[in-house]
Amino acid sequence: MTETTGTIFIDGKAVGFMQGQTIMDAALSAQVYIPHLCHYPGLTPSGNCRLCVVEADGRRAAACTTAAKAGQQISNNTAELNAARKVITQMLFVEGNHICPSCEKSGNCKLQAMGYHLGMLEEHYPQFNPRRVLDASHPDILLDRGRCILCGLCVRASHEVDKKNVFAIAGRGADAYLIVNTVSGKLGDSNLDVTDLAANICPVGAIMFKERGYVTPIGERIYDRQHISDVAMHEHVTEQKGDKKR
Ligand code: SF4
Ligand code: FES
Repeated sequence: MTETTGTIFIDGKAVGFMQGQTIMDAALSAQVYIPHLCHYPGLTPSGNCRLCVVEADGRRAAACTTAAKAGQQISNNTAELNAARKVITQMLFVEGNHICPSCEKSGNCKLQAMGYHLGMLEEHYPQFNPRRVLDASHPDILLDRGRCILCGLCVRASHEVDKKNVFAIAGRGADAYLIVNTVSGKLGDSNLDVTDLAANICPVGAIMFKERGYVTPIGERIYDRQHISDVAMHEHVTEQKGDKKR
């Protein structure tokens, strides 16, 4: 990015933006972290997790889908907004089976890191304990829908980057679930490859590689070493350089 076309103000900090950029993109370009789970640099934003909701000129709006406008006054890192983000995160935890101590994604999980970032000390709400179909049919990749937070990142990555359309989200609201676009509905009958962005983008432990358990020891994983905001900046910079695959 070279020249900016306007300035917005995030928690009082002047942030330049390019025409067409969202508040999220402008913020990340300026090293300002807005919490997010369903945003991924370079993919079409979906606005479904609501973690990134900010106040833009006094109105709540998802930073990932709202265009930056010159002079916009944005509140982001406030106690009220972070409290709302914590409630969303707690709900995501209880809606799925996120048992961190027994999950191989622990330490590499954005949901877990978000919980730490927001000071979440307990789940607060009763566990739903959902029973969802686990798909182990693929030789290299496991799909555990019990951990899926329906962020849609695998759907968009497969469609927009891998050009395969392996995944889709069916149903609505509480009945929504992740499906695999094969006749059998099985991942093993899809052409998903371990090098696909869709196979690498899951923020939680729903899409995992087989036979790689504990290759990286607990304590040495991404969020053991870096704060979630630093990882987000890194993802943004990596995409700006044109390398979507981490
Ligand atoms: Fe998101 Fe992972 Fe569920 Fe795909 S499988 S929708 S990436 S949580
Ligand atoms: Fe904006 Fe999920 S990151 S709604």
